[in-house]
Amino acid sequence: MKRRVAILISGRGSNMAALIRAAAQADFPAEITLVISNRPDAAGLGKARASGVETLVVESKPFGKDRAAFESALQSALDRHRIELICLAGFMRLFTAEFVRRWYGRMLNIHPSLLPSFPGLDPHGQALRAGVKLSGATVHFVIPETDAGPIVMQGAVPVSDHDTSDTLSERILEVEHRIYQESLRLLAIGKVRIEGDVCKTTGSTDSGNFLISPVVG
Ligand code: GRF
Repeated sequence: MKRRVAILISGRGSNMAALIRAAAQADFPAEITLVISNRPDAAGLGKARASGVETLVVESKPFGKDRAAFESALQSALDRHRIELICLAGFMRLFTAEFVRRWYGRMLNIHPSLLPSFPGLDPHGQALRAGVKLSGATVHFVIPETDAGPIVMQGAVPVSDHDTSDTLSERILEVEHRIYQESLRLLAIGKVRIEGDVCKTTGSTDSGNFLISPVVG
């Protein structure tokens, strides 16, 4: 039985689209049952519908600061659709610790930096200002602190002297699309487990690759 997944979005939905594409493969162990947006104008909603995935808008704005009330509307939708796993994909709303605890071990997020570096807003700008030579993306389990939690998978890219936030973000996005689907696949087949604050992956081997930046010559 494929695991039933909801993707939560607030915007463009390129990670969502990559997950939907991956899950369309017959042998993928999860199905994207539902896409939920907290914003009615999220561009990703149209993309999900065009792919034949059911969408739902649970607007957060009318709830103002009452996070718990918004989450109870969200939880009802998740229950109605018998959702087992959640993927946050550009979902711009913080959760209460209670909601996060309820979904602990079953809710993933993706962030465009090599966490724990550069959590929060503008991670690409933070990376450029810090002058790092490598950056990347991280898929992690969600815990109450923002952009933290046991790390499932990371992918790295070089950062060049000529990068802008836009060029860096484009390069990292390609990695995001690869590692998010792979992380979901591993979670769905029970190959990832949380041990304390870290996540371990059954059967994983060292990739043997390494990345050095800059390269001159
Ligand atoms: C991605 O960079 C993701 O890592 C971050 O928000 C962005 C969402 O982009 N959490 P998209 O909506 O998936 O295109």
